[in-house]
Amino acid sequence: MFVGRRSLAAQRRGRYVAGSAAHPARMAPDLATALIEDYTRPGDLVLDPLAGTGTTLVEAVHAGRNALGVEIGPGWVALVRSNLAHARGHGVAGHGRVIRGDATRLPAGIPIELRGQVNLVLTAPPLAPTMPVQRAGRGRVPFVDGMAAALAGCVPLLAPGGVIVVVSRPWRHEHHLVDQPGLVVAAAVAAGLELIDSRRAVHARIRDDRFVARHASSAVTGDRRATPVGWLQHDDIAILMSRDVS
Ligand SMILES: C[S@@+](CC[C@H](N)C(=O)[O-])C[C@H]1O[C@@H](n2cnc3c(N)ncnc32)[C@H](O)[C@@H]1O
Repeated sequence: MFVGRRSLAAQRRGRYVAGSAAHPARMAPDLATALIEDYTRPGDLVLDPLAGTGTTLVEAVHAGRNALGVEIGPGWVALVRSNLAHARGHGVAGHGRVIRGDATRLPAGIPIELRGQVNLVLTAPPLAPTMPVQRAGRGRVPFVDGMAAALAGCVPLLAPGGVIVVVSRPWRHEHHLVDQPGLVVAAAVAAGLELIDSRRAVHARIRDDRFVARHASSAVTGDRRATPVGWLQHDDIAILMSRDVS
């Protein structure tokens, strides 16, 4: 899929409050919208357990879906609330809310009436070797362990036929690319999920018959001077389903 017809700045302009630019790894809004439209219908419920600035939630409510987010960082939670209030100011049809919490402890913290109601989990993991958690004595866990716990915790929340969509990309660490999409699939398998499809989002447009690439996110994924590889221009998209939900 092509999602780079508009620059990231143009995709966000007027839709997100000013502080959102401070987040280091935001999803492209046009990618979130395309995936929400592909996997849900108006009125459906979309969950992002790693909400960040709330791109999934904001684009969901603009598309007439309802949205729920979980985010561990109190500052980001406040930002998501501001972004959702901003969307409400535009008269969006969907309802959105965010809960401060630890995705690796899901479904804990989610209102019981929402179990079995989520039609789409749309999320993007942190670009880091570990994930922060809220547990006594443990501030962080290895990425695959944390991601597997978060994905497994989403399963009881899924409606019949619900899918989990994880957007990721390789990131650079000490001159090497870390295969984050591969780690996501490893986490999904550990969580008992099945990879039912694999897609790519190319952030590019055609101008004067020429292919013009854009970078995939606002994230600076490591030391850009360390290798001749420039900004990443694609996202990997894993489409996952629980073997228990049909
Ligand atoms: C890649 S960012 C998501 C960005 C988001 N898609 C956006 O467009 O703004 C990942 C987010 O996961 C959050 N996070 C990391 N570990 C978490 C956990 N255990 N529970 C909840 N949120 C967590 C981070 O604080 C970060 O904001």
